Parts: sequence; structure tokens; C-alpha cells
Amino acid sequence: MTMNRKQFLQSVGMLGAGAATWGAWGDKALAGTIESHVEGLPGKMEKWQVKHVQRFNMSGYCAPKINTVRVGIIGTGNRGSHHAGTMIRVDSLEIKAAADVAPERFTRIKRKLAKSGHSPEYHTGEAEWKALCERDDLDLVLICTPTYMHAEMAVYAMEHGKHVITEVPAAVTVEECWDLVRTSERTKMHCMMMENYSFMPFHITTLNMAKQGFFGEIVHGDGAYNTSKMRNNFSKTMYWNMWWLRMYGARKGNIYPTHGMGPIAQMMNINRGDRFDFLVSVESKDFMMADKAKALAAKDGFYKEFAGMEYRGNMSSMLIRTKQGRTLNIQHDATSPSPHNLIHGVYGTKGSVLFDPAPPKICTGNHRWADKKTYDKLMEQYKPGVLKQFEQFRKGLGADLKSGHGGSDLINIWHIIDCLRNGLPLDQDVYDAAAFSAVVELSEWSVLNQSNSIKIPDFTAGSWKTNKPNMDINLENGGGTTKVLG
Ligand SMILES: NC(=O)c1ccc[n+]([C@@H]2O[C@H](COP(=O)([O-])OP(=O)(O)OC[C@H]3O[C@@H](n4cnc5c(N)ncnc54)[C@H](O)[C@@H]3O)[C@@H](O)[C@H]2O)c1
Repeated sequence: MTMNRKQFLQSVGMLGAGAATWGAWGDKALAGTIESHVEGLPGKMEKWQVKHVQRFNMSGYCAPKINTVRVGIIGTGNRGSHHAGTMIRVDSLEIKAAADVAPERFTRIKRKLAKSGHSPEYHTGEAEWKALCERDDLDLVLICTPTYMHAEMAVYAMEHGKHVITEVPAAVTVEECWDLVRTSERTKMHCMMMENYSFMPFHITTLNMAKQGFFGEIVHGDGAYNTSKMRNNFSKTMYWNMWWLRMYGARKGNIYPTHGMGPIAQMMNINRGDRFDFLVSVESKDFMMADKAKALAAKDGFYKEFAGMEYRGNMSSMLIRTKQGRTLNIQHDATSPSPHNLIHGVYGTKGSVLFDPAPPKICTGNHRWADKKTYDKLMEQYKPGVLKQFEQFRKGLGADLKSGHGGSDLINIWHIIDCLRNGLPLDQDVYDAAAFSAVVELSEWSVLNQSNSIKIPDFTAGSWKTNKPNMDINLENGGGTTKVLG
């Protein structure tokens, strides 16, 4: 017997008043797959293994240069407002419009933009994001809404002639990933998922080390987004409509995979010489969230609808094997009260690195972590051009240029705008967005099927074999001409 997520939730009585609170996006939010294992293992979900004929190869795609990049932001909550505050620090960028379903979510972005010289038009209402995409004065749409809205919004924006950058993950179902790929190829619009952790100083330096051959052959990577978000997820005000808590109550598998996986996948040249082949996923029981929801509901009626949910297990683990035989071990635990841990351990035939637990470490292949002096020397030796460029900016401006996530948020946005202005390929393309996001639903399928393996579709339709390595982190292709304003 096969049933989709919605049918399953109906069958266990979860689609009552609670589902209504998902609003018009209910079907999207609950779109994951439950394949019953009652009658044995179902097929390997043939529907996902689409025989895709590539219409146009978006890998390495150079769009026409844009002198001043005009931006519209959809979703002005925590992340959208934060990005707005970062964008005003980049030259030749104009924030022209912002859309949010809840007008009170404009307070923060308006505060960030006060006196910045940017005065966007604000669109508010459930469907006003479409009006934003339809405007003819935008080049780029930034999507910062709940994860299950990203793909539909991205497709609509590309259909209306806009490049898209989207928060992570870019999609929550495999079908949505295919929609992104087909639309980007047909419209020749960029669709980049902003995996900002790739731009953290240690991560981007280790990416440069991979490009320069420091690791020899990369064999394996451990990555994670392990950080307690219990307080945030149960907060009444932190996220719009409690959407994160609802996701934990509605899905299984790794619902937030990209911070641990993306930087390692880029070091392995995934979609450019290698690609994800298959994965298996296993998750612990939920030891914390249901208890917390019940305890809160006993005191506060607001939490009643969350008390009966069957939450995703606290620790999600996923193993991926690539076509070239490398492995990735990706965890997600946003409940246990342990310190923030990205792991970012990358192991090769000649050397290895490990970011968390601090301090970060490098091994040059002699069974020991290098001492501090050697570590500092190697970090200097492999410092990529982007970081050197930022040192110049810092000197010139006399400013520290700090930004969110270890400085990665500003570098990420600056490089996107710089590439668009210079007509260069973006750091990550639609195939990365699709491959890095498809594991959300695929890991869910595996968890629900006793951790059986599942194939990861080839979104590049075979072009991964010849696509050239990406991420011009040494500014070798003529970029680096956009100013940072401080
Ligand atoms: N890359 C990172 O480091 C990072 C960090 C945090 C969050 N995120 C991602 O950012 C995204 C947003 O997270 P957040 O913490 O800002 O959540 P949030 O709840 O603060 O913001 C979401 C916003 O979307 C708005 N929204 C909902 N429906 C809408 C619609 N139909 N039209 C327009 N706006 C609508 C909400 O009103 C809200 O303001 C998520 O995808 C999340 O995964 C990424």
C-alpha cells in the first residue's frame, strides 16, 4: 500500500484544525512521501528517476551583464531582513521591492534600510509575492520564506524573467527540484541556493585546498548542522506561523541538510566530475519535542495543536555515496542541548581538516593535527582570492566587515552581485540547488523504509561528467570589481 504524506496524516487524524493553519501552502508543506513498508519494500520511486533531456546546460552559464542589480525580496522575516541589512553594504545593488504576507514583518527590514538610500515598495498579502515577481524593474529575486514555499516562488520568478537566489533548502520534494531544473534550463535564468556556509573563512579556505590538491583524492566528509533550536522552534514569535515546529511535526528525514553537506559537496566537485549516487538515512526517536509540546500545552492552550504531533527524531543521520566512490556522513540535530557543531571533517589520501569542535585543525598526512604555527602557515598559503580581496576592502575602508555566520553572509551576497555584474557563472547553479535539496525527501523515504538505500536523481542529465569545476573563489575569471561599502 502506498500513500502520500497527506493521506497518511489524514489517516492518523493529523489533518484537522492544525492543517488549516498551514494556510494555502498546506499541500506543499505536507508534500513529503510516506511509502508504507507494511507490505514490503516499495519500488525505488521510479517517478523520481526522470529521464531528463537537458534543454540547455546551466552549469557555467554566463548571463548578460547587469550594471546595477535591482533586487526584490520575498519574505522579510529573520533572514530576509538580515539579508537586506547585508545587501546595502554592496555597491551597484538596489533593493526595489519587498513582499511579505504579514505587514508586521516589515518593521525589521524598514529599520535596517532606514537612511540606507534604499526605499523599496512594500507588497503585502498572501499572493503579493507574485506581483513582486511580475514587476518589470527587477533583475534578481531573493526568496526568504518558509522552505516549502521556495520552489514555487523560484519557478514563478524565473518564468517572469528574474534570476533567483533562494534560502536553504531550495525545495522540499524531488518533484520541486525537477521543476527548478526544467525552469532554469528553459528560461536561462540563474537559480542559486545560497549555501552561505561554503563562504565561511575556514570552509572557503579548505575549498581552495581541495582545488589545489592538498587532500589528494577526497575520500570522505563529515558535516552537520547540530545546534539546539528548541527555544526558537517553540517560540510563539520567532518564526512566522510556527512553521519550523510544524515541519518537525510533519516530516521525517533531514529537513535542513545543506549547511553540513553543501561545503563538502563543493570540495568534492559534485555535479562537476562527480555526483551523488545514492543515500541511506536513519534517525533516532524523538526524545524531546513531543514532551516539550505536551508540557507547554498543559499550561497554555496555544500549544494544544502541537501536543499531538509525531515529531521528527532528534538526530537525523544520512550517508551518501558518490559515483566516484566518495562518501558523506551528514547529521542534523536541532534539539539536543549540545554546542553548535558543523563538524566539516574532510579526509583525503594526503591530508585532512576538521572544523568542529573548535579549534579548527589541519593534518598534513602524518597522523597528527598540525601545530598552531603550521596551521596558521597553511591557512595563509591557501587563502583564496575572495578572502584576500576582503582584506583589501577592510584596509581601504578601515572597517572590520563583520557579517552573519562568520562573515560568510556578506561574502556570499557580494560575490553573487559581482558575478551578475560581470556576466560570470554564479558559485552554485540549479543542479546544486536540486541535488542538495532533493535529499530532504529522499532521506525521508529512507527513514520510512528501514533505512533502505535510494537513488539520487542525476539532475545534470549526464553533464556532470564534463561540467567544469565552479566557484571562482580566486577571482580568476575577471570578477572582483564590485565595491563593498562598509
Ligand atoms: N542560510 C542560513 O544561514 C539560514 C539561517 C536562517 C534561516 N534560513 C532559511 O531562511 C528562510 C526563512 O527563515 P526565517 O528564519 O527568516 O523565517 P521567518 O519565519 O522569520 O520568515 C519567513 C517570512 O516569510 C513570510 N511569508 C510567509 N508566507 C508568505 C507569502 N505567501 N508571501 C510572502 N511572504 C511570506 C513570513 O511572514 C515571514 O516574514 C528559511 O528557508 C530558512 O531555512 C537560512
